[in-house]
Amino acid sequence: MDARTLVTARFQKDLNEKEIVHPVLGMMQSSDCFNCHAVQQKIVGPPFMEIAERYRGQAGAVEQSVQRVIKGSTGIWGEVPMLPHTQHSVQQVEQMLRWIYELKPGKTDQWTSRGLNEILEVPISPKNRIAIIEATYTDFGRGPVASLTGSTTIRLRHRTIEGEHCDEYSGLSIMGSKLGSIKHGASAVFRNLNLSNSSSITVRVASGGPGCTLEFHSGSKEGKQIAELEVPNTGGYDRFVFRHASIAPIPERGDVVIVFNNPGKGGLMDLDWIRFDP
Ligand code: HEC
Repeated sequence: MDARTLVTARFQKDLNEKEIVHPVLGMMQSSDCFNCHAVQQKIVGPPFMEIAERYRGQAGAVEQSVQRVIKGSTGIWGEVPMLPHTQHSVQQVEQMLRWIYELKPGKTDQWTSRGLNEILEVPISPKNRIAIIEATYTDFGRGPVASLTGSTTIRLRHRTIEGEHCDEYSGLSIMGSKLGSIKHGASAVFRNLNLSNSSSITVRVASGGPGCTLEFHSGSKEGKQIAELEVPNTGGYDRFVFRHASIAPIPERGDVVIVFNNPGKGGLMDLDWIRFDP
């Protein structure tokens, strides 16, 4: 194959995070490391995970490996040589080594796979609620044309989304781990959801006030309404109940906006989380 492919996945740490790839990983991706190495599998060179297991915590190991990467190496892991990397500074390779040493079996929050047919198992959970999957493709160039690179990123979310993890809101407040102080006409936006396999919606809500109607819209507040449900007074803002509604199928990935309605009223209800069920 005349090209190199790499898929990486990791969890989004906080919602305002803009950076897509760890800078050191980005540097390794644009170098040639992943031509010969992967995190878990042996390619030409040993898996980065094994390198981490062998040297982590050993005095002097980083310095020694840095020299091997820069000057080239053979005979440590086998007869196949690693060619020199004089294009990188000691400091750059040190950063790469520290990234490698942080890889831990079973505890990794960074996955990589190489090639076109690979299964990447990313244990997404309500805690690690958004996985960022990035695929890059680099060809080897030909003649005077240098390598060309393309890449794309998608974010996968867990089916259960905490209210406070909404991407945008108005007419309400984030109160610890829930949405509260909700006025008539308030809204909360959840971006980039894949609802193609979802047929119903569950919410965990409480109300010590007037309650309201929850409308779910596709795309924007004015977009098509995909579900509606009533939240009554549940006997207190700490008396949570579950409410369900079926949703009209949405074939494409997109945003969902919840609108809270009860004309002229405020303190309508509190929202703990929403879940999209198959
Ligand atoms: C041409 C294939 C190839 C490329 C490209 C390559 N490596 Fe290697 N790498 C190897 C091989 C083979 C070994 C084992 C060498 C040996 O046994 O001495 C190795 C060994 C290593 C080791 C272990 C060194 C030690 O002290 O035991 C590290 C760390 C490493 N590579 C990091 C990198 C990084 C970082 C890059 C990118 C800048 C990179 N490699 C690029 C093939 C490669």
